[in-house]
Amino acid sequence: MIQYRNGDFFGEFSDDFFIEEVKLLIATSNKVPAILTPVRGLNKELAEIFSFIGFIFFPTVLTSTVLKKETAAGTYYVKIYHPIGMFKKLKERIAPKALRTFRKTFHAMKRGLKTPMPLGWCYLKREHKSILLTKEASGKSLYDLLIREKHVHYLTAIGLTNEDLIIKVAHEVASAHKAGIFFKDLHLGHIYISDVGIEFIDLDGIKIKRNLTESELARDISCLNDPDLPFSSKERMCFLIAYLEALQWNGIDKKRLVKKIEEFSLKRYKTWKV
Ligand SMILES: Nc1ncnc2c1ncn2[C@@H]1O[C@H](COP(=O)(O)OP(=O)(O)OP(=O)(O)O)[C@@H](O)[C@H]1O
Ligand SMILES: [Mg+2]
Repeated sequence: MIQYRNGDFFGEFSDDFFIEEVKLLIATSNKVPAILTPVRGLNKELAEIFSFIGFIFFPTVLTSTVLKKETAAGTYYVKIYHPIGMFKKLKERIAPKALRTFRKTFHAMKRGLKTPMPLGWCYLKREHKSILLTKEASGKSLYDLLIREKHVHYLTAIGLTNEDLIIKVAHEVASAHKAGIFFKDLHLGHIYISDVGIEFIDLDGIKIKRNLTESELARDISCLNDPDLPFSSKERMCFLIAYLEALQWNGIDKKRLVKKIEEFSLKRYKTWKV
């Protein structure tokens, strides 16, 4: 990584190209300061300004701005964190969120988690905000694949049946849990599938621990039990069985864990489907 510092920002980058990209964002924000302010959902004016400098603007929550850029060397994502509230603003100055996620991502990768490679991070001195750069995940998110676009042919194209997919995801989540990774914000939109396998994106909230508690396991699993998934009770059950088998944790009370998953699912989706 290249360490870089100037009057506007400091950080680490995998390539000089990303330093120039941050300079471009800052130069644009000098003309249009609104590009570095929080916005909720889609904002046509900002999307247009970003498109002038080659970025595709993604509608997200107020606490982040997500941009995508396609280059000859590949597609990458930019995430600008907007700390909201006094505590988060203070924390951002002491330990920028982009740096925290950058470090946690490498830590999780060392423990075997598959996630797009971080390309850099930086802290904007004037705005007191941080930016994370990452490679694009391969393939499609499970949310796009199964719920939004209902892409039935994609799975066939990469040689998978529904059951293969369910077992693959169950195994990957169980190995992450066994490696001490609590996702905290796991959902179908954060899991990507392609012919090379599964990747997890948006690791901002992850916690890396020695052992996860039953509640933490249940919380992550319940987030995947979306009632809009076009899966039968048998397929949902297949997921749970594959997950519990792969977890292979002595001392875990499987019955109590399933009960907790049920409780969290009910809370999150107001419904419980298995
Ligand atoms: N590295 C990546 N590869 C592919 N897609 C990405 C990547 N990073 C972000 N995205 C896309 O941008 C969306 C928002 O990114 P992210 O989840 O990091 O932001 P967020 O602030 O948590 O937004 P949300 O609340 O929508 O999850 C993702 O759901 C995904 O569609
Ligand atoms: Mg997210």
